[in-house]
Amino acid sequence: MDVLRTKSVEQSLRDTDDPEYQLKRKLTALDLTVFGIGVIIGAGIFTLTGKAAAQFAGPGVVFSFALAAICCGLAALCYAEFASTLPVSGSAYTFSYATLGELIAWIIGWDLVLELMLGASVVAQGWSTYATTFLDEIGLGWPDSIGPADAEHFSFGHVNVLALLLVLVLAALVAIGIKESMRVNLILVGVKLFIVLFVIVAGLFYIHGANYHPFVPPRADPVDASGLAQPLVQWVFGLQPQTYGVLGIISAASVVFFAYIGFDVVATTAEEAKNPQRDLPRGIIGSLVICTVLYIAVALVITGMVRYDKIDTAAALASAFRDVGHDGFATLIAAGAVAGLTTVVMTLMIGAVRVLFAMSRDGLLPFGFGRTSPRTGTPVRITLTVGALVAVVAAFTPIEKLEEMVNIGTLTAFALVSLAVPVLRRTRPDLERSFRVPLNPVLPIVAALICLYLALNLSLETWLRFLVWMVIGFGLYFGYGYRHSRRGVTGADAALRKTSP
Ligand code: ALA
Repeated sequence: MDVLRTKSVEQSLRDTDDPEYQLKRKLTALDLTVFGIGVIIGAGIFTLTGKAAAQFAGPGVVFSFALAAICCGLAALCYAEFASTLPVSGSAYTFSYATLGELIAWIIGWDLVLELMLGASVVAQGWSTYATTFLDEIGLGWPDSIGPADAEHFSFGHVNVLALLLVLVLAALVAIGIKESMRVNLILVGVKLFIVLFVIVAGLFYIHGANYHPFVPPRADPVDASGLAQPLVQWVFGLQPQTYGVLGIISAASVVFFAYIGFDVVATTAEEAKNPQRDLPRGIIGSLVICTVLYIAVALVITGMVRYDKIDTAAALASAFRDVGHDGFATLIAAGAVAGLTTVVMTLMIGAVRVLFAMSRDGLLPFGFGRTSPRTGTPVRITLTVGALVAVVAAFTPIEKLEEMVNIGTLTAFALVSLAVPVLRRTRPDLERSFRVPLNPVLPIVAALICLYLALNLSLETWLRFLVWMVIGFGLYFGYGYRHSRRGVTGADAALRKTSP
């Protein structure tokens, strides 16, 4: 079976000229950086910082953020090289199609769809939690029966109306046009950055040095890490699950990794960038660097304000200020989180749309699913389908336990993209690369190993769910995609190879 067939770089670039599947080139380097920050800073920093510090790492969570940033930074370099070589919608999916073959490309595409759609649903639920907190703070309130419900209090038929409305409005916005959505994004990102900087600056005045002792708390018994909930790596090697200590820092890194997810989504907008070769690497690396600095500062401030074992794991940032007598600040932070998470949901949906768009253009998905509308210049059918699916999951299910699924999908995609860099350097040394990963192949291989190691630190349960998702994906590929792939039907690449010198 020819599942290793690749799509040549030239063919990928030529496809972008197909008028039925064409996107408009409107985005600048600044738009792309804003877009990146818009999707990176979200539920992660607003909720996971406290949880990771309290449950796994104490103030050492700062190291966890640094470790996750190194992992993402290395992967970002690989993404940047690909994006500058192959500026085509679809991100990791397109990169791997050009190098590792169709089956791996399908796996990555399927992975990304999981990451992006489930990520959007998870963050939409987080958004609804902050929205209700904010409405409570200003004395309006929202009925519990149509608000967010965690897994414990969830009952069948419960509808999270706030999350539903958010996703539907954002899907409509994305369908109308990317430039319009970018404008909304710009305003909301501004608000979000202001809030994060506010937390850092205001929090500095309430830091107590004593809270940093011990900075890395000594090993302790596990909080909730037995059976299926324990990390795969510990289960495989028969290790005792534990919290705190050095292993706690690594566990926390695989959790806070969620906070960095999104810079890769910048690469999915390659066909909408005015000068992708130059601006995509800037957008990807720039947004990641800005977010890393902010995250480490927030982690230092929060663990300095509140002793790690006293941190409120649900809403650490707002609670830290309430504890020091600033309820008004807490309201402001809740409002900022509402604005901040809005952009994350929107951008993750845009990413999912772009990946499905690329897969559809290659014939791997049916029904001309990815055709762009001549009026809006966006793939409206895919956008509305993604909107409907994200809305259903966000409104009708208790998915908080699925957060880790988003991480596993992303980590596996990062690992494969990193490995694809040295492959493309070998197979196509002739291609113009306006950005090159230094120290190839060492750096890409280290990137892949770190991603894999962090993925192994996710729970056994997550790996099992991931396996089920993959089995469904294989069913779809061999049931439809393999037979309808444009590479198989038209042999376009084979023809190209014959005519190329
Ligand atoms: N990085 C995004 C967030 O933290 C997904 O919400």
